[in-house]
Amino acid sequence: MTPSAEHEPQSAAWYDDDIERVIITDTQIRERTAELAEKIDADYADSDGLLLVGLFKGAVMFMADLARAISIPLELDFMDLSSYGSATTSSGVVRVLKDLETDITGRDILVVEDIVDSGLTLTWLLKYLPTRGPKSVEVISMVRKPKAMDAGISVKYLGFDVPDEFVVGYGMDFAERYRELPFIGVLKPSVYGSA
Ligand code: IMP
Ligand code: MG
Repeated sequence: MTPSAEHEPQSAAWYDDDIERVIITDTQIRERTAELAEKIDADYADSDGLLLVGLFKGAVMFMADLARAISIPLELDFMDLSSYGSATTSSGVVRVLKDLETDITGRDILVVEDIVDSGLTLTWLLKYLPTRGPKSVEVISMVRKPKAMDAGISVKYLGFDVPDEFVVGYGMDFAERYRELPFIGVLKPSVYGSA
């Protein structure tokens, strides 16, 4: 790749034909991430050490961009949770596939999510983390669906509200694909049909 390549129009990507429409562009994601990072810089200016806790796998892209946009010192850790709850019941059963490696006693925790839908996983996590004695626990999510708002899930830092549709990209998958898309979009119905 030549140094000038980034200034040329992007060539067609393998997924172009699968996308019905783009909901949030990569530019919008970048600008919103910078705004959120600025708020976090201010809110945690006096913190003894901010710990970002990303949830596998969806939050990986946002976590990487957010961590680089934040200017105060921070540490990263990850959890992998699998939820067996149904959206129609209030108590989701959550299994911890990978736990934190960090002792969070007295730490300021910011849970990083890709999307909050029913909020079942998050509701469980927001009960679990405080049992380990952190100083504070807050949530940042790139996007939120209407259900999460209705359920009163507390997301302190939010990128965007999205309609109640299945979205992919920027970490979010359909059958483990489309996570690497730089934007957030909706798939054509034909893609679901052939899965
Ligand atoms: P929730 O527990 O219903 O809030 O959602 C848990 C997880 O489901 C999210 O962190 C995502 O990984 C996944 N998820 C929810 N909605 C979508 C979507 O529209 N596209 C891709 N993944 C989703
Ligand atoms: Mg997730």
